[in-house]
Amino acid sequence: MQHLIDTDQLSNEQIRALFEDARRFKEKLPPPLLADRLLITLFFEASTRTRSSFEVAAKRLGAHVVHLDPGRSSTKKGETIDDTFANLCAMGPDGVIVRHSENDTPSRLAEMEMVPVINAGAGNYAHPTQALLDLYTLYEWFEGDLEGRRVAIVGDIVNSRVAASDIRLFRRMGIEVSLVAPKPFMPPATDLPQYERIEEILDDVDVIISLRAQLERHKKPIFEDYSEYARRYCITEDLLEDRGILIMHPGPVMRNIDISDEILDDPRCMVLDQVKNGVFVRMAVLKLLLLDA
Ligand code: CP
Repeated sequence: MQHLIDTDQLSNEQIRALFEDARRFKEKLPPPLLADRLLITLFFEASTRTRSSFEVAAKRLGAHVVHLDPGRSSTKKGETIDDTFANLCAMGPDGVIVRHSENDTPSRLAEMEMVPVINAGAGNYAHPTQALLDLYTLYEWFEGDLEGRRVAIVGDIVNSRVAASDIRLFRRMGIEVSLVAPKPFMPPATDLPQYERIEEILDDVDVIISLRAQLERHKKPIFEDYSEYARRYCITEDLLEDRGILIMHPGPVMRNIDISDEILDDPRCMVLDQVKNGVFVRMAVLKLLLLDA
């Protein structure tokens, strides 16, 4: 049984196959490869993109999707997550897609070996399908030539599961990653180049991945006033000038704190391309886990 907890569970050959499937699905929607398969989504944290994207991907492949809203489930009556999961598995789904604030929840459920588990975001540990769709967006833009590309990740890196998964996957693919953040947002132990000022990297990067301040993970407020943070880290026209740097963001974007209104409308901004690619990449992931594996 193959699960997807982070991308290190995928071989290079599987990632190549995923990207080839995503490319084909984007060119032309496939026949219903997962007709009559059933997926359950179980999101213990809020989501716009990931949950909808998985649901659209599953439906594009002919699968059925049932969503359990944990806020209205029997976890509210004291049932453990493991028991909730076991009960859902007893209904015979072909896979369960889980998001949770704890780093180890998807891996613990996967260890029960009841159905394939797909991690849709766990704590600050991993968000594998976001990393895959980010990499696919770069792969498409740079026509497969990723070795030596330079990516700067800017923002609340220490609290970001997207940053954690991106860093692991990008470095494996030969992409050079640097980190730009104020001290409280910088991971304490990293061998990656670190910068406090965004101006220091602008002439040396091909891509900037901007991140939202993950306020829900801050035990106490880190900045009283995010306008001061925005003055230093918001991606603006004044900052970029005419540099051909691609701008990415996993969403949700805090407008004019992470990225300015003007840059969100700029052709260099890939935010909606990432979302579009996410559906095709997740279709490829579902095919891999439910059909090919
Ligand atoms: N990128 C991402 O995980 O967005 P959502 O939180 O809206 O799913």
